[in-house]
Amino acid sequence: MKKILILFGVLAFILASCGEKKKEEVKKVEEPAAKEAPKAEETTATDAKDDKVAMGEKLFTAKTCTACHAVDSKVIGPAVKDIAKIYAEKNGNIVKFLKGNADAIVDTDPTQVATMKANIDGILKDVTPEEMQAIAAYIRSTNK
Ligand code: HEC
Repeated sequence: MKKILILFGVLAFILASCGEKKKEEVKKVEEPAAKEAPKAEETTATDAKDDKVAMGEKLFTAKTCTACHAVDSKVIGPAVKDIAKIYAEKNGNIVKFLKGNADAIVDTDPTQVATMKANIDGILKDVTPEEMQAIAAYIRSTNK
């Protein structure tokens, strides 16, 4: 009986010390992460730009643009990279086009233009100016 009690005591001790170790490990993991998080005032202009691109990329999927536009290849609409390249070359304004205030410069085939125009008059009508800027920033970011 005594032996069993001692064994039990030893087990309890081992279990307790294991538990403490685990807690210590968790603490160690959490601390550096908290230190690395940048303070709001330290955020640079580059970070803000990257945020905008990230937001635009999310919107590009959320607003179903990806159904017709892949980054590298033509699906129904031109590849995002090709759009970015041509807008850079021709100094075009993506936001203006998405608002319906500029003609297509990438693919001017009337049937193709009509397909895209349906999106400008549909989905893109509900997109805020800020979101529009983000989508344009994302498209431009693919031109490398
Ligand atoms: C149903 C398919 C379809 C969807 C969905 C679609 N597009 Fe398009 N898009 C096209 C086609 C087709 C063209 C080629 C015609 C043209 O260039 O206007 C095009 C062209 C474009 C162009 C280049 C315009 C130019 O100057 O030629 C941009 C920019 C663009 N789309 C952005 C978007 C964005 C942003 C979305 C999501 C809100 C989107 N598209 C959703 C089919 C689509």
